[in-house]
Amino acid sequence: MSTISPMHTVTVRDRARNIEHTFQVPEDRYILHTAENNGKELPFSCRNGACTTCAVRVLSGEIYQPEAIGLSPELRQKGYALLCVSYARSDLVVETQDEDEVYELQFGRFFAKGKVRAGLPLDED
Ligand code: FES
Repeated sequence: MSTISPMHTVTVRDRARNIEHTFQVPEDRYILHTAENNGKELPFSCRNGACTTCAVRVLSGEIYQPEAIGLSPELRQKGYALLCVSYARSDLVVETQDEDEVYELQFGRFFAKGKVRAGLPLDED
């Protein structure tokens, strides 16, 4: 016998594109995956909680993200979450980050993507 999961209303404010998405998410489904099934385009890359491209800040509601290995405990406590591995535990309002915001908060601006090439001298033109 199958049980039906509770549904929650999730609103994602996409700051880069200045649009807002609202959709229903079953409690046992990833938010990003459900958004895609509803035709919503949100930022993502790895889909497994490692890269932070899908990171959002939670403005209200409760989110559950036990597999968000790419996010430090400090940033989780500050209300950041990775939508590709997050479940809604209540109605939620979240907003997308600025480009690389979470990555830079975690690793510092010096290590931001594209600025360091491990082991190779930088090109001098
Ligand atoms: S898409 Fe990479 S952490 Fe979510």
